[in-house]
Amino acid sequence: MKFIPDLAKLSLITEKIRQLKKRIGFVPTMGALHAGHFSLINQARKENDVVVVSIFVNPAQFTPGEDFKKYPRYLKRDIGFCRKLGVDFLFLPDKSDIYPPGYSTFVNVEVLSDVLCGASRPGHFRGVATIVAKLLNIIQPDTLYLGQKDVQQAIIISRMVKDLNFPVKVKVVPTVRQEDGLALSSRNANLSKNERSGAVVLFKALRLAETLVSNGQRNASRIISRMKQLIEKNKQVKIDYIAIVDQERLRRLKKVKPRSLIVLAAKIGKTRLIDNTIIDYS
Ligand code: PAJ
Repeated sequence: MKFIPDLAKLSLITEKIRQLKKRIGFVPTMGALHAGHFSLINQARKENDVVVVSIFVNPAQFTPGEDFKKYPRYLKRDIGFCRKLGVDFLFLPDKSDIYPPGYSTFVNVEVLSDVLCGASRPGHFRGVATIVAKLLNIIQPDTLYLGQKDVQQAIIISRMVKDLNFPVKVKVVPTVRQEDGLALSSRNANLSKNERSGAVVLFKALRLAETLVSNGQRNASRIISRMKQLIEKNKQVKIDYIAIVDQERLRRLKKVKPRSLIVLAAKIGKTRLIDNTIIDYS
């Protein structure tokens, strides 16, 4: 595995790779890598000649009050994981490489960035779209790998790629979960033992919704209220939102349709968790 030292060297490296007609798969991350990230890297490894991973805790996507400084950083461990997973290039940019003095340009994917998590975290998706746009321009991969776990992020980035004609294919990899169903997230480490065992209720609520749909329920507000009832039994969980939306525009639906999305966000103590499922029936 090679480290990418700076942006100038990076363009030389990618130019050479392209001359050799090799396919580049790219996995952007903020580090604190876990099995969710591994699954993206493994898929990129299977489908490409060259795998590039970036680790950059992006200040632009932290909203006021969210603690950028406290975001977990385990660089040494992450480097070991990347080596084991067969990553070819690890890109660890400096903040000053990405946002040099005078930096003024941001990408905003309208409407999609203002709903659901965007409503509670104003500016968050503008920061995400901006860093991903920059990384795509810097690395110029053939395929970009994103996780279903952050489905709104994946939908926003796919929209940006389409709208701004980035020559890249976006692949969304299924959510990796712990044994009891809790979606893996670097934030799970912030949960106390008690909060951790209660957190599984979010997954259980999604399963309940799937069961209701497979039993014929199509009324979104009935499904959501059953999910709320289940979650609210656990007093340490505060729901931010539960919604059933279409995958293209993230518009709230009154009636469930095949391939619609159930999304939720909740706070457990001080930790905000998100999860989602695609309703699959025909
Ligand atoms: P980060 O939270 O490090 O996640 C990096 C990638 O891993 C994202 O595409 C995310 O959806 C995926 N991922 C996280 N947990 C997962 C899980 N349990 N199963 C499957 N995939 C999972 O998301 C970001 O970083 C940043 O916003 C980034 C895109 C890097 C831009 O800064």
